[in-house]
Amino acid sequence: MNDPSLTLLISAEEIRKKVRELAQSIRNAYRGEELVLVSVLKGSVVFLVDLMRELDLDIEIGFLYLSSYLGETTPQTRVQHYILPFPKIEGRHVLIVEDILDTGASLLYAWQHCAEMKPQSLKTCVLVVKEGGAVGIFPRVDFQGFVIPRVFVVGYGLDFHEKYRHLPYVARLETPSE
Ligand code: IMP
Ligand code: MG
Repeated sequence: MNDPSLTLLISAEEIRKKVRELAQSIRNAYRGEELVLVSVLKGSVVFLVDLMRELDLDIEIGFLYLSSYLGETTPQTRVQHYILPFPKIEGRHVLIVEDILDTGASLLYAWQHCAEMKPQSLKTCVLVVKEGGAVGIFPRVDFQGFVIPRVFVVGYGLDFHEKYRHLPYVARLETPSE
């Protein structure tokens, strides 16, 4: 890592190991069932691709393109939803795959969107959860990877102004403000 604004937080090897563990738990939970994985674009796509290849289940994938931002005058988080074709999930087992949980607004939005379509079951899998963020509030994280301090991180799908998504590790970015 030769970018001085980055500090390694989770190595590629740690991620590989964690993804395998999560896949094992998911495989055990849905053994013999068909599962729809709903990935929240764009950040979760790297995690989804690694996770789905470890699952060994009958799966379908679907995408929600959400982007969240803080309102300019209020601290309330708003979520913007860009409409994409979406699989029919009524009566099916659905697992939302998210890269990172901070305020929880994105996960809540995705959860409500899926819940409206009456799936048979609806659970969540989040690779990175920020300490002191939305932990413990609805919707809960059923399959959780790492817990990190509430710092801004990039890599493994996570970006800062669309940069750094390709990094195979997760690193803290020192100066995210413009
Ligand atoms: P939340 O809605 O506040 O929980 O944030 C969720 C979304 O914001 C994630 O899916 C990411 O797209 C983005 N996000 C939150 N924290 C970070 C971060 O530290 N780095 C990059 N993106 C983040
Ligand atoms: Mg995300």
